[in-house]
Amino acid sequence: MKRIAILGSTGSIGQSTLKIVESYPDRFAVATLAAGNNADLVFEQVVRWRPRLVSIASEESAAQLRARLERAGVEGVEVTHGAAGTVKVATHPDVDFVVSAIVGVAGLEATYEAVKAGKTIGLANKECLVAAGELITAESRRQGKPLLPIDSEHNAIHQCMRGGRLHEVERVWLTASGGPFLHTPKSQFGSITVEQALNHPTWKMGRRITIDSATLMNKGFEVIEACRLFNLPPEQVKVVVHPQSTVHSMVEFVDGSLLAQISVTDMRLPILYALTYPDRVESDLRFSVNGLRQLDFCPPDMDKFQCLQLAYEAVAEGGAKTVALNAADEVAVAAFLEGSIPFLGIASTIQAVLKETPALHAESIEQVLSQDAEARALASDVIRTHVTKRSVTNT
Ligand SMILES: NC(=O)c1ccc[n+]([C@@H]2O[C@H](COP(=O)([O-])OP(=O)(O)OC[C@H]3O[C@@H](n4cnc5c(N)ncnc54)[C@H](OP(=O)(O)O)[C@@H]3O)[C@@H](O)[C@H]2O)c1
Repeated sequence: MKRIAILGSTGSIGQSTLKIVESYPDRFAVATLAAGNNADLVFEQVVRWRPRLVSIASEESAAQLRARLERAGVEGVEVTHGAAGTVKVATHPDVDFVVSAIVGVAGLEATYEAVKAGKTIGLANKECLVAAGELITAESRRQGKPLLPIDSEHNAIHQCMRGGRLHEVERVWLTASGGPFLHTPKSQFGSITVEQALNHPTWKMGRRITIDSATLMNKGFEVIEACRLFNLPPEQVKVVVHPQSTVHSMVEFVDGSLLAQISVTDMRLPILYALTYPDRVESDLRFSVNGLRQLDFCPPDMDKFQCLQLAYEAVAEGGAKTVALNAADEVAVAAFLEGSIPFLGIASTIQAVLKETPALHAESIEQVLSQDAEARALASDVIRTHVTKRSVTNT
């Protein structure tokens, strides 16, 4: 029986993980849970799963949850809160496997502490590898415990990598759907509206990740994740646009063989793969081969999708550059969504922040978080200047 901690149990990945646990009651048990502010769902999850320990974002919500559980006659569940509570959930002695699925840098410290505590990690949180990948992967190598990717592209690469050895890999191919502006000429990028950018052709996702898909920054983050997870230089990590999103990613070996991973588009499958690795177990998550019709591939336009180019540049230097890339992107995307900067302002803000950020290599998560805060402040300054300039020009 594998005893699982879920960081971000109320989110999309967290809930999919609980569905997997539900489908395999003889294999998995919920040991601990951590969530943010969705108190009602946390309560339901605790009543259903009876974890040893649960953490919620605020002290006030934790007190309310304790009282609610007492009224419901639920005993034996310790309730804690905040960042320290999430770390406790991730490092609890009863936990064998940690699913890291908190969104943003809030998931960083607990994931790092879980790696340090020798837990096996199923990693969904992108920021962990983009901002602190060098620290986290070094620690996981020291511990001799795998970091198993849940992000579908990296999960696909992980599966394909099993077809050869690392030194036999020529390159990996990350597939990208291309987003809503795949066929939009660059000359029209200046007038892209928030509504257009939020209208992703295939996926319904959160607002930041939808905009990151439109700029291809999301793919840029995945390039960085791949470099760090698989210990590859950026030259060996390629992006290929594949609008059908049928092939989740590919690995090309030195003999010219290409292994591609195809499966149903359902995050439960990469979660199941990570949870059962190195075994595979039967599932009903089937892909219809007879439905396979057309597979198109083309290179991304790096000139049009400048954010992807910036991600390659940031990972080549590493350290604070990738921390700044993520932080500046988050601030710039928020500014675009509230109408403060144009679509092209996202890339120009990130570029300006990267230019001002030295490639210092952090030695602790605290340093990463301080680099993150600095980059956010810098991005806000760049945006303020941009907005001021625009209002001056408009008067
Ligand atoms: N969804 C996907 O298909 C997918 C695919 C690949 C990778 N990922 C990555 O996986 C991560 C999770 O994605 P998601 O789609 O599951 O996100 P989501 O639905 O937005 O869920 C985020 C989770 O993080 C929790 N959370 C937020 N701030 C927190 C804090 N300060 N302390 C503790 N918990 C906190 C939220 O809690 P509350 O809701 O209770 O506030 C929620 O449980 C992201 O990094 C995403 O990029 C997602």
